[in-house]
Amino acid sequence: MLELLRRQTQTRRRPLRTSTAQACGLYPAVGSPSSDPRGVIIGREIYSGKAFVYDPFVLYDPSARERLASGHALIMGKSGYGKSALEKCYVLRQLRFRERAFAVLDAQGEDGVGEWDAIARAVGVKPIRLVYGGDGDGVRLNPLDPRIPSKHQFAILCSMVEIVGGPLTSETRFVLSVAHRVALERAAGEGRVAVLSDIHDALTRPGAGLLGKRQVSEEQMVAWGQPASLAMDQLCSDERDLAGLFNGPTTEGIDLDAKLIVFDLTALPREGDAMPLLMSVIGPWLRWGWIKPGDSIKRTLIVEEAWHILSHRPVARLFEEFVRYGRRLGLSFWAILHHLADLRVAEAPEAEAILKLTATRVIYHMDRHEADITADYLQLPGWARDAITDGASKCAPGKAVWQVGQRVQLVEHIRSRIEITLTNTNTKMTEKAQVRDADQAPIIPLISKGAAA
Ligand SMILES: Nc1ncnc2c1ncn2[C@@H]1O[C@H](COP(=O)(O)OP(=O)(O)OP(=O)(O)O)[C@@H](O)[C@H]1O
Ligand SMILES: [Mg+2]
Repeated sequence: MLELLRRQTQTRRRPLRTSTAQACGLYPAVGSPSSDPRGVIIGREIYSGKAFVYDPFVLYDPSARERLASGHALIMGKSGYGKSALEKCYVLRQLRFRERAFAVLDAQGEDGVGEWDAIARAVGVKPIRLVYGGDGDGVRLNPLDPRIPSKHQFAILCSMVEIVGGPLTSETRFVLSVAHRVALERAAGEGRVAVLSDIHDALTRPGAGLLGKRQVSEEQMVAWGQPASLAMDQLCSDERDLAGLFNGPTTEGIDLDAKLIVFDLTALPREGDAMPLLMSVIGPWLRWGWIKPGDSIKRTLIVEEAWHILSHRPVARLFEEFVRYGRRLGLSFWAILHHLADLRVAEAPEAEAILKLTATRVIYHMDRHEADITADYLQLPGWARDAITDGASKCAPGKAVWQVGQRVQLVEHIRSRIEITLTNTNTKMTEKAQVRDADQAPIIPLISKGAAA
């Protein structure tokens, strides 16, 4: 038998004419059909070797091959596996498209600047730095900024008071609403913008109130408003660290028309109330100041360390509405997390609603316990669950499981040489790589009035 095979001349294969539509039936093991080819290239699908192209705005369009339910994305995985590198390359590549704009809340940094600093500078944008302790070189955001409609200003005030002082009673909410109205009227009478200390003043010296037809005495108003006035003291008093962040008119000159806005939050402490407070103001502020109704710009908001939103109910409540209206606002919201294990999702319905509104999930390497929780929550197939736990090979840095609508694929994110130099965050731990100029694809600087560094 062996002799027979040895003597056999090589078989000849006659050419076969076929269309690409038939080819996937003839060679079923080759791989699934590609998703929509329009958008930015991310890298390659590992099992088929095909290019992986992704654009949530294209995929949301009715003309897409398989339409996504939303443009929102959830990026998860252990530290150091390439989440930020993906976002940065995605932004750099998307910036070449017309009518795209990005805002990034940059929470990690080194050498005193945020990690998006290099990207911002490469495209000619200066990051907006928020500082703690009011040492003067930072930017202030006013929760009572006139761009934010008064109903939403009140929602922010309630969230801020809850973050500092815990859940609000109906009585305190009532006094806060009266103080808000009084503060707006007083500031308008003086021809200026209302600020947080106007609310503080109105809470501590409220005058009598009218609850329906019932007169509420000044003493009663002061007593009911006490939790809110104590919280306002934390936010307004000059001796407190938070004073410089919120108490005063919004710093002028923030270019909200820039194609890329980077908020550098690295000077704010990770623990304590500063981050959730900032998130509760910046979300609505971006919604009303950055997003312009009626224009055709597609915007992406990227939040590094999104657990500051998802693990605080008052902040998640503000963002849920923002994210839910994403479709009408032309918004793609990207939340970056390490894993779901430390979010008590069942106890935070607002956070769960935000997670459910994401139609794209990118999952980098996780330990088994976190991978199981995540895979159960996202209903990932068994092979994807195993791939996530394999941080040495299948989900080594740069490789992740992508769940885009119904499709689940293993994708390698491929970076150009210049992108590698701009996105590597472990240079302090590694030897310097030689990058030759000739290998570098150019970065095109943004042309935007007033945004140049
Ligand atoms: N596409 C890629 N291919 C190969 N290596 C990559 C890729 N992306 C990132 N890395 C490597 O992973 C390192 C960490 O990347 P990155 O800072 O994006 O991680 P991260 O997931 O955002 O971490 P953290 O959660 O701490 O912010 C980079 O310095 C780089 O060495
Ligand atoms: Mg990161």
